[in-house]
Amino acid sequence: MKTMFANVPIQDVQAFWDDRPCNLRHSKNPLGTREYFDEVEKRKFFVEPHLVDFADFPSVKGLKVLEIGCGMGTTTINFARAGAKKITAVDLSEKSLELAKKRAAVYGFSDQIEFYQANAEELSKTVPLDTYDLIFSFGVIHHTPHPEKVLDELRTYLSSKGRLKIMVYYRYSWKAIWILLKYGRFQFWKLRQLVACYSEAQTGCPITYTYSKKEAKNLLETNDFKILESQVEHIFPYQIEEYVQYRYVKEWYFRWIPPKLFRWLENKIGWHLCITATKDRS
Ligand SMILES: C[S@@+](CC[C@H](N)C(=O)[O-])C[C@H]1O[C@@H](n2cnc3c(N)ncnc32)[C@H](O)[C@@H]1O
Repeated sequence: MKTMFANVPIQDVQAFWDDRPCNLRHSKNPLGTREYFDEVEKRKFFVEPHLVDFADFPSVKGLKVLEIGCGMGTTTINFARAGAKKITAVDLSEKSLELAKKRAAVYGFSDQIEFYQANAEELSKTVPLDTYDLIFSFGVIHHTPHPEKVLDELRTYLSSKGRLKIMVYYRYSWKAIWILLKYGRFQFWKLRQLVACYSEAQTGCPITYTYSKKEAKNLLETNDFKILESQVEHIFPYQIEEYVQYRYVKEWYFRWIPPKLFRWLENKIGWHLCITATKDRS
């Protein structure tokens, strides 16, 4: 089942993210300026506050961090700010990397971060082997044809006491239901294709796998990782039409839900399955 997108060429994946790097339209400021990157970060951390908790930036001080699928470098820069000893950031998309490099230069972190354009499924062909204390990958491996190959590579790069922090999309989520209702006319048997088409800001993402908790556990365990913690997070409550105009207006049905109940729902039917794992055999 997890091989559904196995035959999609990796070039198609790259072309999609080159065409529109993740969060590209999070700011109206001139592309590549400090004001642009500041606003992108502010907006991302506002709508995805769990990302800040999950990344736990202060904890990386003095550590070696490998980031897979860094996009335009929002978390990468924050690992640098937090004082990571070494940061290696990888992405398939040249356009995303161009922005990430520019961002590192704008904030004066170019010397601290090594960037590589690589397919994470074949990481060792490009990125020199080293062991890292933290491997971080947020919303990435579900977009590649063979997520299991990425994990197979990552095991070699994780130190014996290191942590793998990875976010994949959760299948039994409000977002999946919303896609089904909005675009699928209840054709639940087409859910996987519909999710792939509508999971991102730009339609037509060539690959988006979603995982149940059991499937995610299997994926990690068959690649010799042991899950230490797993948490479902994130419901996007805003009206898209307003949000793209930089206004935060909640959907009517979310306006009336008390914050505690909303948090409870996020932990039950959120879109992001955030997993912390370690190597099973150290
Ligand atoms: C949804 S974006 C997330 C970017 C970033 N982690 C963030 O949270 O802003 C997915 C990223 O994964 C990258 N990606 C997808 N497949 C990849 C692969 N096989 N190897 C490396 N990067 C990949 C894409 O180029 C894209 O930048």
